[in-house]
Amino acid sequence: MNTSKQQKNKNYGRTVLLLLLLTAVILCLILGLMLIRMRSGTSSAETEQNLTETQPESESISESESETETESETLPPGMVSGMTLSFYHAFLHVSDSAVMPVVRMSPENAVDTSRIWSSSDLQIASVNETGMINPVSPGECTIYVTSVSNPDVFAEISVTVYPDEEPLPNPGEIVCSGSPRDDIQVIGGITYVNGIMIVNKTYPLPDSYNPQGMTPETAQAFAELRQAASDEAGLYLFSHSDFRSYQTQVYVYGDYANQYGSEAADTFSARAGYSEHQSGLCIDVNWPGDDFNDTPEAVWLEQNCARFGFVIRFPRDKEALTGYKYESWHIRYVGQEIAQEIMQNGLCLEEYLHVDSEYP
Ligand code: DAL
Ligand code: ZN
Repeated sequence: MNTSKQQKNKNYGRTVLLLLLLTAVILCLILGLMLIRMRSGTSSAETEQNLTETQPESESISESESETETESETLPPGMVSGMTLSFYHAFLHVSDSAVMPVVRMSPENAVDTSRIWSSSDLQIASVNETGMINPVSPGECTIYVTSVSNPDVFAEISVTVYPDEEPLPNPGEIVCSGSPRDDIQVIGGITYVNGIMIVNKTYPLPDSYNPQGMTPETAQAFAELRQAASDEAGLYLFSHSDFRSYQTQVYVYGDYANQYGSEAADTFSARAGYSEHQSGLCIDVNWPGDDFNDTPEAVWLEQNCARFGFVIRFPRDKEALTGYKYESWHIRYVGQEIAQEIMQNGLCLEEYLHVDSEYP
């Protein structure tokens, strides 16, 4: 009897223990679940907080953007808001003539376009109040130009001056960086875009530049072109006029300006220093006048000149870009590959090089 009572008590004790254990497990589970819920509640709150924190940030960006816009919007009418230069890199010998970039200020109706020029090192290159940059001694410096009415508008030109006895770098071989047009480089006063010489109303040649005639490549290519015109089409092409020195162009342009006035002369004749004829890279073929347009020779020239590395320099309907009326007779040597790209796409050289042609 005692034994069975003892047994009963034992069983009762075990059941209570089991129940306690079960309750503890359930309590632990409930506690665990609560903890998980609390944690996930915190992280979603954190995320929400983050989101709400991010929101004002992005709002503040658009605020600052609109502030910038507002700033330019609220510039007084006619206030200078931008500036571009015809070149940003110059490589000069000590004895080279001064070079001067053309400065374009925007907007077009800007009232006060005056600017201040300065040099980081007057011992290397000086600059006068009109922007004439004069090499002084070997070294590197920066020329600064700043709008007077809006000092936030400014530009820089890097200038490297070489001793006269040291050769200047070769066009197309210099790598420049840091300007809106690193591809435009003035070397010894001559402007090159990606190594291609450009001579037009924006980019003059130094007065002293004188190759004494057509460059050898130009002369050779023109000889081949003439031969092909004769062999393939029985046409006789010849050079009416090719190289002209600075001084010759003084007379040529001067005569036209006297005869027709300088405004009219500027539409078909270049001022001295601005004529491609001074480069030795171009030729007026057969007859430089509108009578030559649409002749079999002019048609053949237009259709075939690129095979020999030439382009029609002042094509039809490109007057606003080249600065000159159509000249069916004036061809310029640029090399076969570039000539073919220009002629096949109906471009003028200014379009191909992305430059303008306007007197300062
Ligand atoms: N006729 C071209 C524009 C010149 O004078 O160079
Ligand atoms: Zn010409």
